[in-house]
Amino acid sequence: AADEGNDLRTPIVAVLGHVDHGKTSLLDKIRGSTVIDGEAGAITQHIGATAVPLDVISDIAGSLIDPSDFDLPGLLFIDTPGHHSFSTLRSRGGALADIAVLVVDVNDGFQPQTLEALDILKRTQTPFVVAANKIDTTPGWNPQEDTPTLQTIEAQSERAENTLNQRLYEVIGELSDNGFSADMYWRVQDFRGNIGVVPVSALTGEGVPDLLTVLMGLSQRYMKEDMAVDLTGPGAGTVLEVKDERGFGTTLDVVLYDGVIRTDDTVVVGAKNDPIVTEVRALLQPRPLAEIRTEKRFEQVDAVTAAAGVKIAAPDLDDALAGAPVRVVRGRPEEEVVAEVEAELADIEVDTAENGIVVKADTLGSLEAIANALDEAEVPIVRAEVGDVAPRDVAVASTADDPKHEVILAFNVEVLPDAAQQAEDRDIRVFSDDVIYQLVDEYDEFVSEIER
Ligand code: GTP
Ligand code: MG
Repeated sequence: AADEGNDLRTPIVAVLGHVDHGKTSLLDKIRGSTVIDGEAGAITQHIGATAVPLDVISDIAGSLIDPSDFDLPGLLFIDTPGHHSFSTLRSRGGALADIAVLVVDVNDGFQPQTLEALDILKRTQTPFVVAANKIDTTPGWNPQEDTPTLQTIEAQSERAENTLNQRLYEVIGELSDNGFSADMYWRVQDFRGNIGVVPVSALTGEGVPDLLTVLMGLSQRYMKEDMAVDLTGPGAGTVLEVKDERGFGTTLDVVLYDGVIRTDDTVVVGAKNDPIVTEVRALLQPRPLAEIRTEKRFEQVDAVTAAAGVKIAAPDLDDALAGAPVRVVRGRPEEEVVAEVEAELADIEVDTAENGIVVKADTLGSLEAIANALDEAEVPIVRAEVGDVAPRDVAVASTADDPKHEVILAFNVEVLPDAAQQAEDRDIRVFSDDVIYQLVDEYDEFVSEIER
């Protein structure tokens, strides 16, 4: 649908939460619900993302949704594995995702990665809803496949309903302890001021109609203006991963959030040193599930329009950075685009001090998030880089003249064997973790031990 000459792009929905709380299962459930009656559009698999068109959402949501209330084309879901920091998902100084679903296992409650996700949602001011998952594990549950929440709750015994309510109120309490006012989604009037909690089961599909309805409503109501973009303009995106792919060499997994990218485009990509300027050799999408047995896992496409996940194959991508911007040059001077990418990288760049600790992280976004956390804790950083812990990092750490600074913090990266050996030889402490605040806590503890 058009809006004052502009197109409406698909909102990007990040699915976040602690390991094993059911993010992927929830998306699997939505993917498995595609109706193959020719009328409903198909759900498409992208690189790192799943596009669910409005008619499929409307099919799943049934009577909860009147599709004529919406003119956004659907939702693009990004699955973020629990060990992978949501902070990677950044764009132009903000969050890449327009909205988010925070998945919480109702039995397990809030866990370290739930808290970390909350912290980043707060920082980036990303609107979100909470999917209180695994409601089917409530003792005495009587599952009602694929039904809306209130309908399934009505079908439960009083005891099961009470147990569930107790668990749900714990979730609401945890949100409130973390500074978010929250309630069951059906009682929320203003989703900007209050977090809606949607009870769901990724196993039975209960509450999934509600979740999609709430996400669609939230996007339509608060996001629509941001979604009005020129979808024929030069593409802009964020690198999720830099990956070796057989037959294609180094490739980029990218989420495109603006414009279009074509196979004959020149692109500028943020990298370790100067931005890379290169030509797209191929744009790749996963093949439909039905064809997955064929030899080739990918299908080559001529163009991809935002919002979408896509794998870009091009020469010279080895130094590209996860979390860095990707820009299509089309119709503008190349230097202008290079300058834009440089400015964006400079914006993320961590301020370093003459004395301090060494920080390594998996992506630019996570590096930025750790630097923020360390800044708040008043811990200076001497070197901050994306990549595994290497011998030169140990060399830098060992030049410190304060034992508090003879430290490397490693977030979601490997410690290379020779680096580990050298760290041991030179008595450099290496802390590894995949939760930012835990990393900062570990360092704090170490410092108080030294000072004792
Ligand atoms: P990571 O990607 O590792 O962070 O985990 P995840 O959040 O994607 O969790 P995943 O979907 O892999 O689910 C973890 C386990 O929980 C699996 O064994 C699922 O079958 C189970 N599970 C997920 N959702 C539900 C649910 O609603 N009910 C029940 N009973 N089990 C569930
Ligand atoms: Mg998963």
